[in-house]
Amino acid sequence: MKVPLLDLKLQYAPLHNDVSEAMLRVAQSQVLVLGPETAKLEQTLAAYTDCAYAVGCSSGTDALLMALMALDIQPGDEVIMPTFSFFATAGVVARLHAKPVFVDSDPVSFNVDPEKIRQAITSKTKAIIPVHLFGQSSDMDAIMAIANEHNIPVIEDGAQALGTQYKDGRKSGSIGLMGCFSFYPTKNLGAFGDAGLVTTNDEQLYIKLKQMRNHGMEPRYYHKFVGGNFRIDEIQSAVLNAKYPHLENWHSGRQANAAYYTELLLQHGLATTTGCTEFTSTEKVLLPAEVHKTGGAKNHHIFNQYCIRVQKRDELRQFLASKEIGSEIYYPVPFHRQECFAYLGCNDADFPVANALADTVMALPIFPELQREQIEFVVQTIKEFISL
Ligand SMILES: Cc1ncc(COP(=O)(O)O)c(C=O)c1O
Repeated sequence: MKVPLLDLKLQYAPLHNDVSEAMLRVAQSQVLVLGPETAKLEQTLAAYTDCAYAVGCSSGTDALLMALMALDIQPGDEVIMPTFSFFATAGVVARLHAKPVFVDSDPVSFNVDPEKIRQAITSKTKAIIPVHLFGQSSDMDAIMAIANEHNIPVIEDGAQALGTQYKDGRKSGSIGLMGCFSFYPTKNLGAFGDAGLVTTNDEQLYIKLKQMRNHGMEPRYYHKFVGGNFRIDEIQSAVLNAKYPHLENWHSGRQANAAYYTELLLQHGLATTTGCTEFTSTEKVLLPAEVHKTGGAKNHHIFNQYCIRVQKRDELRQFLASKEIGSEIYYPVPFHRQECFAYLGCNDADFPVANALADTVMALPIFPELQREQIEFVVQTIKEFISL
């Protein structure tokens, strides 16, 4: 039995007619950039994320860049973010010659530790970017309390978290000043290429973001500020509109798969609970939890990824690969250890949690079309490895 990390062909097969029809509609209209498909996508996803406004754009990376540019982030300004995330979160800040300020993570949720944000705030802090990693909301109450105390805007990096809800039911992207999303093909809602979205409830920002994605232009050929070409193609919007009606079903599939992994890993005695942060004789595999380290109500995790932690991670991945089971490491190198950020002079000892995560975390196949027998085979194979 083969278990790929992701098989997009299985998602595409039943959608073939709808997606083809959507793409043909765009081809026949020859409205190819920022047209009615994009307007529909923006309306749909603003409503879905409980936001007043949404602005489609060229990628999740550009969504973050546009959000920072809309806040007028300048060289030397500081922007706080978790050190354990995908590179884009930090890259956009550095590209504006602002200073990315990295903080450590919460070992239970893998998201940023709000207390570390508090400690990192200076008079130069101009934005905070919590990342809703793997499809689970960051601890937004704690983060917003700190941000509001210091009057610092929050940009939610929800690239992996469209439709995710914080524990109180609020949608990711609606809690901070702006939310940024990615439709890269591997995401829970994937385009046929690159695309992204910014959400906000602030009308002035909405107007600015729409201008920002088109060179800061308004009216035509008049530019009050410098933006970029962050436009979204109609083909991508049309594909996303065709796929959107299935999103909640896909989330249910991901959540059911996650629950089944957890149930089996517990049943096989590889762990005794979820959210454990230390390896012991009974906790051979550390299982993901749908809470933060401070506990409380469960988050609505959409499991863009199901990430476990294992001590002999690289050996286990090799063993799984030998049985044709896919896996991935998100992420092996935290920002403070990246060569391109050496100039920041970070102290490695300040990031014990992120370092431990980077050394032990690995993602298992979780896509909605995965079969129960495949999950059973993955768990069985992990058990076989651990008892070797
Ligand atoms: C946390 C995070 N932020 C930003 C991005 C960037 O999105 P994109 O690949 O669409 O540019 C990603 C994409 O993987 C991501 O995972």
